[in-house]
Amino acid sequence: MPRVLITGALGQVGTELTLALRERYGVSEVLATDIRTPSPDHPAASGPFKLLDGLDAAGLLSTVQEQGIQEIYHLAALLSAVAEAKPALAWHLNMQSLINVLDTAHACQCRVFAPSSIAVFGPDTPRNLAPQLTSLRPTSMYGVTKVAGELLCDDYARRYGVDVRGLRYPGLISASAPPGGGTTDYSVQMYHAAARGEPYTCFLSSNTALEMLFMPDAVRATLDLMDAPRESLRYPNAYNLAGMSLTPAAIAAEIRRQLHRFDLPHFEVEYAPDPVRQAIADGWPSSIDDAAARQDWHWRPAYDLRRMTGEMLSALTHHPTGGIIHGT
Ligand SMILES: NC(=O)c1ccc[n+]([C@@H]2O[C@H](COP(=O)([O-])OP(=O)(O)OC[C@H]3O[C@@H](n4cnc5c(N)ncnc54)[C@H](O)[C@@H]3O)[C@@H](O)[C@H]2O)c1
Repeated sequence: MPRVLITGALGQVGTELTLALRERYGVSEVLATDIRTPSPDHPAASGPFKLLDGLDAAGLLSTVQEQGIQEIYHLAALLSAVAEAKPALAWHLNMQSLINVLDTAHACQCRVFAPSSIAVFGPDTPRNLAPQLTSLRPTSMYGVTKVAGELLCDDYARRYGVDVRGLRYPGLISASAPPGGGTTDYSVQMYHAAARGEPYTCFLSSNTALEMLFMPDAVRATLDLMDAPRESLRYPNAYNLAGMSLTPAAIAAEIRRQLHRFDLPHFEVEYAPDPVRQAIADGWPSSIDDAAARQDWHWRPAYDLRRMTGEMLSALTHHPTGGIIHGT
């Protein structure tokens, strides 16, 4: 039974990954950590929790040693829009916390999950079906830290044999935790506004297509990648991962199509692109080729836009007759 430590456990990914890991390994086996204290009803508070700064190398090492941790899921980071506003802090946090995790993993022989992002791509990456192996010249500080992070993980694997794995997550959509300042946050905000019966002003243009994934798929992909035999992984820390290529207009249209199931009023969306986030989105591909993940560890998403929208509106309206729509 691995004893697991999660950094950044109160964030959008950590909230759901903590629950999934506790379900899998047992509540007491999974230590959630963050620089914020969880409210008593937060999933991270359902088991062991410790305040831990990812920049505190000594604190991380002693916690891993004292608790007999064998796996670290490193989720603490500054995301794209926040990183563009605070580039020096983003570089410092995203790189130094990763170095601390990798040094600790080397010293204590832990396995590591360290996510990358579709932000590694840039304007000279093919826009449609961005390949696994392609030019990585991002035009955002967040993307710079993710490319450097992938290379750093490669180096620790080559130099010290650290088993570090990661996925290039696309924009993640979830109902249980607010997103942390990314360029695809509009999608989650749109569902929340629709569920409250309120209009929404979108910070990207209506036809900006980006790759998205529903959080249950992202969590399953994470666990499946960590379960895969190391020798079957050609790109252990940098797998492209695709779910669905979506525009704001497509999500809004699907929400409108399902409003009647949740007794919600008409949903109005206005578009007022924010220059910073629109520029980041314009530098990313509109779809991702995840053939390598499908081949090497049998990745396949379970959710399409219709099924995800049903689950999002059901969760956000607490609608008893909502829930999953099967089929496409
Ligand atoms: N959410 C997405 O759509 C998405 C997409 C691609 C990649 N990712 C990657 O997945 C990982 C998790 O992202 P997320 O969406 O959960 O982020 P988030 O912003 O929602 O959560 C990050 C968490 O890290 C914590 N944190 C901040 N500084 C810290 C520090 N110094 N020490 C410890 N904790 C600290 C924050 O309190 C927060 O709870 C990140 O590496 C991110 O780049 C996320």
